[in-house]
Amino acid sequence: MNDAVPVIAIDGPTASGKGTVAQAVAARLGYHYLDSGALYRLVGLAAVRKGIDLQDAAGLAALAASLDVRFDGDRIILGGADASDAIRTEEAGQNASRVAAVPAVRAALLRRQQAFRQPPGLVADGRDMGSVIFPDAKPKFFLTASVEARAERRVNQLKQKGNSAILADVLKELTQRDERDMNRPVAPLKCLPDAYLIDTTELSAAQAVERILDCVAKIR
Ligand code: DC
Repeated sequence: MNDAVPVIAIDGPTASGKGTVAQAVAARLGYHYLDSGALYRLVGLAAVRKGIDLQDAAGLAALAASLDVRFDGDRIILGGADASDAIRTEEAGQNASRVAAVPAVRAALLRRQQAFRQPPGLVADGRDMGSVIFPDAKPKFFLTASVEARAERRVNQLKQKGNSAILADVLKELTQRDERDMNRPVAPLKCLPDAYLIDTTELSAAQAVERILDCVAKIR
């Protein structure tokens, strides 16, 4: 790992806007971008496709260690085929959250994530970017929003992609996923004492990007 390369960590719950915001921050700074959630989504998807039980820790860890994945611009290629859309469904999110609770899966994905730390810098988004994967990241952000605002955003995203979505169902799924991500024993989602908290309930993605860039400029 190249410790001298700057890393900005953006953690937070699902549908908090961190993906959009992190990508925009990376583009503005000319940094690389790591969507760590995509890796857990890919492990979940590959497990379902291969018939590996989502409780089978050893099988999932072996799968995570040997995952044949390539990030090609904004496309994600799994085993030679484009999986960018398949990993974005609600079911894929729930499966990702399940496999992410398996410590051996997290261990298997650790170095793969750290390898994204390349000059001139990295913006990393996920749940444990600032706590486990890049504990020396500076600054660290915790992006959140009310569960209702996040559910509405997720419904809009799903509809834009041509999927049907019912607000009450999405709200329930987000709440379940938050519970699992925040209460697992390994690398739980939490706002770290050294992270800047940004509540995006009343903010646009563009405003959140400006807040983050202001903060980055101040500490450098
Ligand atoms: O950010 P996302 O919704 O794409 O993440 C999908 C799931 O993956 C999320 O519910 C929890 C898990 N995850 C994780 O445990 N650690 C990360 N760094 C990123 C995601």
